[in-house]
Amino acid sequence: MLSLKNIIVGVLTLGIVGLMVMTYMGGGAYQGGEHAKVIEDFGDSMSQKAVVAQPEEKDDRAKEQEQLKALRDKAGNVGAFQVSQAYKTKCASCHGVNGSGEQNGKKLMGPKLFGQDAEKVYTDLVDFKAGRKENMIMKGLLMNLSEEDLRVFADEIGEFPARAKALEE
Ligand code: HEC
Repeated sequence: MLSLKNIIVGVLTLGIVGLMVMTYMGGGAYQGGEHAKVIEDFGDSMSQKAVVAQPEEKDDRAKEQEQLKALRDKAGNVGAFQVSQAYKTKCASCHGVNGSGEQNGKKLMGPKLFGQDAEKVYTDLVDFKAGRKENMIMKGLLMNLSEEDLRVFADEIGEFPARAKALEE
């Protein structure tokens, strides 16, 4: 299912970013911690290191970028199913075109809707509109929508996982 995939992509992304950070930190700690040795070997090892290490670092960085891009493309394709014009214009800016709550890997203002049950979405929307669930943004947005409209939005959002799955097959 897509939700599981999203989690896997997220974890992988975190892992890669974490590794990049650790690579940076590791370099700094090494030079600080082994100060004496660095001074001792300064003449030969440092100059060698500078020549050898830099191209390798670039290769690794480029590889990571490619992997990240591949992951993003994959996630993007799975999520590229059709949504209604109404959803696109009224909801997508904050909840994402596929309800992921993200756009180009960046978190948007609204939470993820993908995978939420139509009944739950409908209840949330009715509650926002009635002010039982407090959110000025959502309340303002829904003010001019009828309960019939809310039902249509809720049913559409409830269908997102099935639409994504149909694309995969
Ligand atoms: C301007 C940004 C914005 C737009 C546009 C927007 N939302 Fe939201 N939406 C939010 C925010 C912020 C929340 C979180 C509110 C909270 O939990 O307090 C939210 C929450 C929700 C929730 C509850 C989800 C949850 O997990 O709690 C639903 C359902 C929802 N929005 C549906 C919609 C629908 C349908 C539309 C289009 C008609 C829409 N939203 C348009 C910002 C937006």
